[in-house]
Amino acid sequence: MLKILNIVGARPNFMKIAPIVREMRRRDSEFLPLIVHTGQHYDEAMSDSFFVDLGIPAPDYHLEVGSHSHAVQTAKIMIAFEPIVLEEKPDWVLVVGDVNSTIACALVCAKLGIKVAHVEAGLRSRDRTMPEEINRILTDSISDLLLTTSEDADENLKQEGISNDKIKFVGNVMIDSLFYNLEKSKESKARENLELNDQDYAVLTLHRPSNVDEKGVFSELLDALVSISEKLPVIFPVHPRTRANIEKFGFAERVANSNIKLIEPLGYLDFMNLYSGARLVLTDSGGLQEETTALGIPCLTLRENTERPITIALGTNILVGTNPEKIKHAAFSVLNNSSTKTAKIPPLWDGRAAERICDALLDV
Ligand code: UD1
Repeated sequence: MLKILNIVGARPNFMKIAPIVREMRRRDSEFLPLIVHTGQHYDEAMSDSFFVDLGIPAPDYHLEVGSHSHAVQTAKIMIAFEPIVLEEKPDWVLVVGDVNSTIACALVCAKLGIKVAHVEAGLRSRDRTMPEEINRILTDSISDLLLTTSEDADENLKQEGISNDKIKFVGNVMIDSLFYNLEKSKESKARENLELNDQDYAVLTLHRPSNVDEKGVFSELLDALVSISEKLPVIFPVHPRTRANIEKFGFAERVANSNIKLIEPLGYLDFMNLYSGARLVLTDSGGLQEETTALGIPCLTLRENTERPITIALGTNILVGTNPEKIKHAAFSVLNNSSTKTAKIPPLWDGRAAERICDALLDV
């Protein structure tokens, strides 16, 4: 029986942990899964609602760390997590993705000689100004089992000198959650409440510091988005960081006078209900690039690089950067049906990654 501490901290972690914990609980003669929530995200809309929507059991430990600078947040998680590891003596600690909670917990375990499994290992944007890129590189370098979503990630890890026997291509567990919940999301009233049934609309998410923390960059993005919203409504569930900057930079009126509709962050099922019916998605999120590829929805990524190149090579994703002209051109091509992008679902994005993750843990 393997005792596993499963770590969650921020919004993009919850849909990755849910299928893994469900599978471990199903195989209860092989696994004893515990959940540790670091509290990196804490708003009802950024955290609790995901436990409800995804049916994740209540955390066994809650570190209640909250928002701070990167150093303080990472350090606080480490200090709070270490005694739990010492007390529980798990066989494995399982971390997902690339948030500060991921590196903080992995680092605690590496120092204590506790084995770490990293789900979604090997993704690289090659942009070290991104905090997530630093988290990815460091977490991979100290993990004992590297579970990857695509074969380009395996190649990245090998190039960094990580031995082949630690790397296991298991597929995309976030897509397990997507397929598992797609039917249920149809019961959500999100689209109906926004009066979007039977009409074209776009969905926008924007929260990367590189896009929303600098007034000039954010302003140019807004120019493009306002133009696009003249063709179809743009629904924009706003991350707390972005909401604060819209106020701070004095953009609220510009947005209010456009066809961009700001709404509160949505829960998992409501957001799926919304984006699954969109004509077009514009985003700087990592996960949404993958979810749109899995559903065949055109996606424009408002970044200069992506750690998820398979969504471009096989999927619906187009990297458009932050230049307003380029964004508008790409959006209008999609809306005029002159975009030639065809889509395939990448290998092993089949809804069964959690099973393979559990098998890999037993196999080591
Ligand atoms: C974090 C992750 C990012 C991920 C994103 C998803 C890191 C380095 N970044 O970024 O990879 O894409 O989560 O959302 O781990 N805030 C609230 N309520 C909350 C959480 C945050 O109001 O529940 C506000 C706070 O003002 C906080 C700010 O949002 O300072 C940023 O939160 P933080 O967790 O530091 O980073 P994110 O931008 O959310």
